[in-house]
Amino acid sequence: MNFQPDARILAIESSCDETAAAVVENGHTVLSSVIHTQIETHRLYGGVVPEIASRQHVEKISDVAREALRQAGLTLPQVDALAVTQGPGLVGALLVGVSYAKGCAWAAGKPLIAVNHMRGHIAANRLNGVEPPFLCLVVSGGHTELVVVEDWDTYRYLGGTVDDAAGEAFDKTARVLDLPYPGGKKMDELAEHGEAIYHFPRAMLGENSLDFSFSGMKTAILTHVRKNGAQDRENICASIRAAIVDVLCEKTRLAAEAEGIRTVALAGGVAANRGLRRQMSALCAEKGWQLHLPELCYCTDNAAMIGAAAYAQFCRGDFADLSLNADPSLDLE
Ligand code: KG4
Ligand code: ZN
Repeated sequence: MNFQPDARILAIESSCDETAAAVVENGHTVLSSVIHTQIETHRLYGGVVPEIASRQHVEKISDVAREALRQAGLTLPQVDALAVTQGPGLVGALLVGVSYAKGCAWAAGKPLIAVNHMRGHIAANRLNGVEPPFLCLVVSGGHTELVVVEDWDTYRYLGGTVDDAAGEAFDKTARVLDLPYPGGKKMDELAEHGEAIYHFPRAMLGENSLDFSFSGMKTAILTHVRKNGAQDRENICASIRAAIVDVLCEKTRLAAEAEGIRTVALAGGVAANRGLRRQMSALCAEKGWQLHLPELCYCTDNAAMIGAAAYAQFCRGDFADLSLNADPSLDLE
C-alpha cells in the first residue's frame, strides 16, 4: 500500500455487550473513544442476553456516536468515512451498528467501511504504532487464534481453538467459583493474590499442534471444587490462570519458531490478563523476540480498534454499499 491519504474515520462497534464509537485519524491516532458497557445488566443473568443487548444498543448508539464526534471536536460532515463492525458477533447486536452506520453514511454522503471484528482486535496494535509482519495471539470471549499478519490486508491462520475460547474458559470456570460475569477479569484480580498450587490440565493436542482446547477446564474445576471446596479461591484462580496461560504461551512459542517470526503481539479481551502479559513478556525476553501489548482499554471491545482496522480498507477504496448486512460468523481471513 503506497498511497496513504489523511482520513478521520468515525467507527461504530456493537458486536456484543458494548456500544462503542470512536474517531481515529490515519489508523493510529485516537481522537476520541467512547464505550457504553452493558455489563451490569447482563450480570443479572450470568451472561449476555442477546435480545437485551440489541435493545440497549438501539437506546444508546446515537448518544455514544454523538459523544465521540463531540470529544473529537468534529461534526459528521467533517469525517472522511464511517466504519462499522460487520461481524462476527451477535446478529441482532451487529445489525444495530450496521443500520446506524449505513444511515449516517447515507445522510452525510460518506463512504462506508465494513470491518471484521477480529481484524479490529488485531489492529488495536496499530494504535501503538506496530506494523506487520508479526505473529498475533488473538484471545477473546469467542476466539483463540494464532495468526500471521503479513500486512494490514493479509492474515494467515495458523491454529485456533477446537472448542472453548480462552475467555470462555475463564468465564465458565469463574462461574463455578460464583464470580460475577464476566469472570475473566475478576479471576485475574484474585489470581494476583494467590499461588498456582493446584494442577489443572494443559491440553496440548499433540507435539506440534497449533490448535487449542479449553473445554476440559470446566470439568477439572468442578471436580476440584466437589473434592476440596472453593474456599481457597485465590490459589484456585492462580492455578486456573496458570494452566490457561501456559498453553497460550507454549503454542505462541511453537508458532513463532515454526514461522521464524521474531515479533509477537497480543489482541482481544484476554490480552488484558496480567498473568498472560507477564508470562508472554518473559518468554519473548528469553527468546529475544519483540512483544507488543495493546493498552488495556483497547484489549476488550472498543471502536478505536475498528477505526484502526478500517484505515487499510480506506486506503485501498474497499467500501461497502447500502446493501451491507451483518455477518455473525464472519471469518478472519
Ligand atoms: O474481546 P472481548 O471484549 O470480547 C469478545 O470479542 O469476546 O473479550 C471478552 C473476554 C471475556 O471472556 C472476558 O472474561 C475476558 O475477555 N477478559 C479477561 C480479562 N479481561 C477480560 N480474561 C482474563 N483476564 C482478564 N483480565
Ligand atoms: Zn471482541
